[in-house]
Amino acid sequence: MPTMPGLGETARAIVADGKGILAADETVSTITKRLTAREIESTADSRRAYREMLFSTPDIAPFIGGVILQDETIRQDSSTGIPLVDLLAGRGIIPGIKVDAGVHPLAGAPGEFVTEGLDGLRARFEEYRELGARFAKWRAVFVIRDGMPTGRCIYANAHALARYAALCQEQGLVPIVEPEVLMEGAHGLERCEDVTGRVLQAVFDELFDAQVSLEGMLLKPNMITAGQGFSRQATVKQVAEATLRTLTRHVPPAVPGIVFLSGGQDHVLATEHLNAINELDRPKPWKLTFSYGRALQDEALAAWQGRRENVPAGQQAFQHRAWCDSAAAQGRYSSDMEGAAFARAEAPPSI
Ligand code: 13P
Repeated sequence: MPTMPGLGETARAIVADGKGILAADETVSTITKRLTAREIESTADSRRAYREMLFSTPDIAPFIGGVILQDETIRQDSSTGIPLVDLLAGRGIIPGIKVDAGVHPLAGAPGEFVTEGLDGLRARFEEYRELGARFAKWRAVFVIRDGMPTGRCIYANAHALARYAALCQEQGLVPIVEPEVLMEGAHGLERCEDVTGRVLQAVFDELFDAQVSLEGMLLKPNMITAGQGFSRQATVKQVAEATLRTLTRHVPPAVPGIVFLSGGQDHVLATEHLNAINELDRPKPWKLTFSYGRALQDEALAAWQGRRENVPAGQQAFQHRAWCDSAAAQGRYSSDMEGAAFARAEAPPSI
């Protein structure tokens, strides 16, 4: 397995101490649903204005090592005419790109999905690299239900993730490998742990076969939680214990960072879970940090409401949550921070 030093450097920079990822790669259709749910019109310009608000938030560089964009955003310019990618790079934040073409029904497996997008991917990587992307993301999803996920669904998605990751590294970008076991369902924590373990094992088997350099990639998994419809939700400590146990069993220490998705968790709970994982007094050979979409953005979107005069309020909300999540990535978060204003003096020096 090759080591690819340049890729390892980028991967480690994204997850450097106290840094995580802002996932701002919602497709046009997903971000449109989020905007219209708040009665904000979704146009190319309103989507640009929203992303520009987040990307230009003051003092976030010590907390945000990378931002995942999608096809529309990576081609957009800021209101002052700078490409949004350059706005990020100029602040020391590494731009990345979502490259999968979404989930589609898996033939012969009713209710299950496979992620598409491998055709023509090499050329798309070339273009995105020219546009300034230095890492990429591909998301696979697994549903927990009676008899699901099937072995076939696990294999098909693990294989596609590995083909994507190998191609991504060939083109000089760091792959984020995202196998997401969905929170939907009435299953308990143990079932999520069993399924996530099987999925991770299959993914790393495929990554090994595809000769993917583990040092030059990041893993983006779900945390181990009970299903959203389960009557007895686990405690924060139980989630942390089960999550670290599963990762320890199935993720090689050569991987530099594990960047969790939030998956529909409430934003404060997502912060608490991350903090509890980092607080555990066990070996943690990888950086354990965030790559949150909803959990990082929900408060900012609510404060912004699509109005220019609310940009400072939206930025303040985003800055505060990024500050809390950065502390959680170091096991230094406390609930006192929820009521406190972000204090610049407490931020680690920006480099
Ligand atoms: P959430 O944190 O909202 O789950 O989004 C992360 C992501 O990138 C999903 O692909």
